Amino acid sequence: MNDKIFLNKPEILSEIERKSKEISFGMPSDLYIGSFLKTLIVSKPKARVLELGTGIGLSLAWMIEGLDKESTLITVDNNTELTEIAKSYFGGDSRIEVVCKDAADWIKEYRGNKFDLVFADAWPGKYSQIEEILDLVKVGGFYVIDDMSEQPNWPKGHQKKVLELVDYLEQRKDFVITKFNWSTGLILAVKK
Ligand SMILES: C[S@@+](CC[C@H](N)C(=O)[O-])C[C@H]1O[C@@H](n2cnc3c(N)ncnc32)[C@H](O)[C@@H]1O
Repeated sequence: MNDKIFLNKPEILSEIERKSKEISFGMPSDLYIGSFLKTLIVSKPKARVLELGTGIGLSLAWMIEGLDKESTLITVDNNTELTEIAKSYFGGDSRIEVVCKDAADWIKEYRGNKFDLVFADAWPGKYSQIEEILDLVKVGGFYVIDDMSEQPNWPKGHQKKVLELVDYLEQRKDFVITKFNWSTGLILAVKK
C-alpha cells in the first residue's frame, strides 16, 4: 500500500499547512486522521458533525469534504486567533459554524440535536466531560479520538490519563470500540 490517498488531499490543505508554519502552530492533525474522518462522514448523508479543537483547520478541511449539501458541522476552539483563521477559510460555507469558546462550557450549554460524528481533539470531550459528550452521539454515530499512541514529548502522567480513557471506553456497554495502532493512535467508538 502506498500513500496515493493523499492525491485526494483537500485543495486548501497546502494553504493551511503554510499558515500553520507561519503562526508556528504545533498541533496540526495528521493527514491519516483527516482522510479517515472524511471517509466516515461520507457514510452519513445529512450528517451532523462536531469537532472539539478546531486548531488550524487541517482536520476540518478534510471533514468538510465529506459533508453533503444538507450536512452541518460545528467546530469549537477557545483560541480566537485559530477560530478567526478557520472562519477566514470556511466562514463562507453556510453548513459550517466556527465557535470560539471553551469546549467544556460549550458541552455544558449545548441543547441541540445529537451528532452523527464527534471528533474530540481537545481536552474537554476526551479527558473531561466524556459522559456528556458520549451522550451527544446518535445511535449508529461515531466518536473518534486520536493521539492515543505514546509520544516521547507527553507530559508526566499523560500516559495514565490515556489508559484510563481507553479503559473507560472499553467498559461502556453502549459503544463498540476499535483501537487502531495507526496514524497517531486512533479509537473509533460506535454507539449501539
Ligand atoms: C490538537 S489541537 C487541534 C488540531 C486540529 N484538529 C487541526 O487539525 O488543526 C487542539 C486544539 O484544542 C484547542 N483547545 C485546547 N483546550 C481547549 C478548550 N478547553 N476548549 C476549546 N479548545 C481547546 C487548542 O486551542 C488547539 O487548537
